[in-house]
Amino acid sequence: MVYPKNIDPRRIVRIVDNKFEAANIRTIFFEDDLCRKARPGQYLMAWIPGVDEVPLSLSTIDHNGLSAVTVKAGGKGTEARGGMRPGEYIGVRGPYGNWFNLVNGRVAIVGGGTGLAPLLSLAKALIELGTEISFIAGGETKKNVLHLAEIQTLLNKQRYNLIVTTDDGSYGREGTATDAFQDLLEKDKNFDMIYSCGPEPMTRKVFDLSESQGLQLQVCLERIVHCSLGLCGSCVIGRFRVCKDGLILSSEQLREVADEFGVFKRGLDGRKTYFN
Ligand SMILES: Cc1cc2nc3c(=O)[nH]c(=O)nc-3n(C[C@H](O)[C@H](O)[C@H](O)COP(=O)(O)OP(=O)(O)OC[C@H]3O[C@@H](n4cnc5c(N)ncnc54)[C@H](O)[C@@H]3O)c2cc1C
Ligand code: FES
Repeated sequence: MVYPKNIDPRRIVRIVDNKFEAANIRTIFFEDDLCRKARPGQYLMAWIPGVDEVPLSLSTIDHNGLSAVTVKAGGKGTEARGGMRPGEYIGVRGPYGNWFNLVNGRVAIVGGGTGLAPLLSLAKALIELGTEISFIAGGETKKNVLHLAEIQTLLNKQRYNLIVTTDDGSYGREGTATDAFQDLLEKDKNFDMIYSCGPEPMTRKVFDLSESQGLQLQVCLERIVHCSLGLCGSCVIGRFRVCKDGLILSSEQLREVADEFGVFKRGLDGRKTYFN
């Protein structure tokens, strides 16, 4: 079945659960018929009146009828969303964007930070397909590795390989997800697809490593998304509007925008903002 790329009825959904993930991270479960039909990699625009409207990836799609977003508290918007209780309501529109192309074979998934949210729903879908997964999940510290327990439960089977990295060495291997990916490729290059989501300098490194080995890649990009309809240009990279042409870009598309990808993006005011 083909779903429309831009479904835009604004609506209010009821929050059913607020799950503690870590001190500053919560997963908000809600009931919504359109999100139940979403595909891994799609995102929502979540609105709290008087606060803001921001893009959030769907971390759960139709689990016992519920969908979810996972929010890391940073500014007042994410704090307000993370503090929402069961029975309260939040405004949403979407789901928007394209979705990961699922490959049945051997794949590697490389994620870091809040980029692990869409990769969780991707991993669930790949497992249903019988795909063999090597999953690299990175965070600054153990408590910042998003969905760690859920990913561990999901991959707790012999055919799946999970590598956890933390910047401070508080859990798993000390270092970055990309260091672990580089080491993995030295031992095993036999992957039909690489999937990645996380801070753009990280996904750029995953792109460079994949290109050096001739491996196909799908990256879920997170840029400034205001309209989500391809109109305002805040999310632009090269000729692509990430909100509409993405969030998922392929190796071929990323090659076209290699001068920008991981180098700079548009800031909240539309100006070029260079990654460090
Ligand atoms: C496609 C996509 C998916 C995302 N998925 C997740 C996710 O699953 N979990 C998660 O925790 N974060 C996710 N983010 C990042 C999240 O949207 C921003 O971190 C969040 O908007 C920042 O809000 P804040 O309250 O922390 O405020 P601050 O970081 O202090 O930002 C202040 C204000 O700037 C605006 N703003 C900041 N970042 C963005 C943005 N990317 N687009 C539009 N407006 C912005 C908002 O109005 C916000 O209130 C995603 C971003 C994108 C583009
Ligand atoms: S968010 Fe407006 S064009 Fe993409």
